[in-house]
Amino acid sequence: MKLIEAASYEKMSEKAAELVIEQIKRKANTVLGLATGGTPVGMYKCLTEDYQNKQTSYEQVNTVNLDEYVGLSKEDPNSYAYYMKEHLFKHINIPPGQTFFPSKEQGEQYEELIASLGGIDLQILGIGENGHIGFNEPGTSFHSKTGIVKLTDSTRMANARYFASIKEVPTHAVSMGIATIMQSKKIILLVSGKQKANILHRLFTEDVKEALPASILKTHPNVLVIADQDALSVLKEQEGSVFQ
Ligand code: PGA
Repeated sequence: MKLIEAASYEKMSEKAAELVIEQIKRKANTVLGLATGGTPVGMYKCLTEDYQNKQTSYEQVNTVNLDEYVGLSKEDPNSYAYYMKEHLFKHINIPPGQTFFPSKEQGEQYEELIASLGGIDLQILGIGENGHIGFNEPGTSFHSKTGIVKLTDSTRMANARYFASIKEVPTHAVSMGIATIMQSKKIILLVSGKQKANILHRLFTEDVKEALPASILKTHPNVLVIADQDALSVLKEQEGSVFQ
């Protein structure tokens, strides 16, 4: 894993967007793995601005999202399909038929779909405060494939801010598996904010183990972590020497 220290959330977002654009310019029919949540919002804003100013074309791009809640329709403002439409897809020229989300019905067939597109060229990831990637919670097998997962209370609580109440947060989601994520050719992990400082410290200092899903990324040959100063705060305080 390589680490890029970003001076701010905006710089982290700009850097990530720059790398996505470079990837699309290098390979017009790139398969992008996309993440939702608070962290990548700034990156999607930068991609939107780039499209408005420079018309980087997404005509041949396919996107596969990491996860989706079970029980919310695509039109529900809390669904990840809706999130992607609002934050990115409606602003760029990607054909709607080239944007994919895992679903309960499709299950493991999502793996075949990704394979038929040629595999994920670049996967964008966030990390949960408990170390999850996608919705693969601590304890998930590193061999897991796409399927239905039960959300932990801490994840439901972290995501409750988007819902009217915690009761409305779905209890289950469909998530790309850890093995699926690991098959991506390149991965960018975005980490922002003080609430992620402890997990980022754990990621860099603890062993690879299923209790810490993101730790598997240390065994992938091409992972770039881009973290802002708030996220880096504990790591720098405790392990200052790592960065000297
Ligand atoms: P966040 O979610 O970007 O909203 O913090 C990240 C995650 O849970 O993977």
